[in-house]
Amino acid sequence: MARHVIAPVAELPPGTRKFLDIDGRPIAIFNVKGEFFGLLNRCPHQGAALCEGPLIGLAQSSNPGEIEYTKLGEIIRCPWHGWEFDIRTGQSYCDPKRFRARAYSVNVEPGSAVVKGPYVAETVAVSVESDYVVVDL
Ligand code: FES
Repeated sequence: MARHVIAPVAELPPGTRKFLDIDGRPIAIFNVKGEFFGLLNRCPHQGAALCEGPLIGLAQSSNPGEIEYTKLGEIIRCPWHGWEFDIRTGQSYCDPKRFRARAYSVNVEPGSAVVKGPYVAETVAVSVESDYVVVDL
């Protein structure tokens, strides 16, 4: 499993999404209230670009006339036929046993953990002093 650095956190503020192609797979990364989620941008129903749909909430009812609206901004509605999926898990609310969108876990890591690679070239100390770049050898 290869790690892919997507973007600095500041480039993906809450309420936004970023579309990527990772190893030939169309994937969208969402920031929902500071939490990050990844979803395959392909609807398991008929293949629409699922992640281009609106983010909505989940409307449920346990009794007639009582509607509870939860998971605000965590459900994506497919732009073609309106099927709805939980972006945390990919679960379908239309037919949960048969259809699931592929979900990917997304983590936030400190820059020091992703910038430094396994190969490090020899370096020399460099400092900036009053508009002059000075190299100490
Ligand atoms: S293609 Fe997504 S609901 Fe039909």
